[in-house]
Amino acid sequence: MSMDKKELLKDLENQCLDCKRCGLCRGRNNVVFGVGNPEAEVMFIGEGPGEQEDLRGEPFVGKAGILLDKMLTAIDLDRRKNIYIANIVKCRPPQNRDPQPEEQEMCIAWLRRQFAIIRPKIIVCLGRIAAARIIKPDIRIKREHGMIIKKGGVMMMPTLHPAALLRNPGDKPGAFEDFLKLQKLMEDMELY
Ligand code: URA
Repeated sequence: MSMDKKELLKDLENQCLDCKRCGLCRGRNNVVFGVGNPEAEVMFIGEGPGEQEDLRGEPFVGKAGILLDKMLTAIDLDRRKNIYIANIVKCRPPQNRDPQPEEQEMCIAWLRRQFAIIRPKIIVCLGRIAAARIIKPDIRIKREHGMIIKKGGVMMMPTLHPAALLRNPGDKPGAFEDFLKLQKLMEDMELY
């Protein structure tokens, strides 16, 4: 019998837990593979684990994650129910620096395989690093967040990173508009 998405993802996670493809493995407490419903239609992609995520092995569980969860709740999305969340790199970069291009290059294969299993209809990129990697390399996130493009049959939207919103609270209303756009898109695609 063929494996279902949940089993395939668990199998992939078990392989990922042993990954030593780049130097980030040396400083990690946990590989942060991803969290959510393997059957999700919407996938959120962040940059890489921070301190809390590294300690707990789950994406977006620090202050930025609390804000993300609030914004998700406002549009009836929930990491335990109807979305999947992962990062470009699965291990914490030291001092939360940006993941280097080589590290992203090494790690992106895991994300591609997650994507191939889940096959979401919508991808939301949280912040410039994810948006540049997934949507377009020269993205100007402050200017282009909220735009929806179709790429490879998947709807994609970049939005501001919740950690950036904590640093610049004045940007929160604009980011929330993006979430409302996502909600509308999901309604139009009959995904709720
Ligand atoms: N920031 C990210 O980009 N990802 C996380 O998992 C946590 C913070």
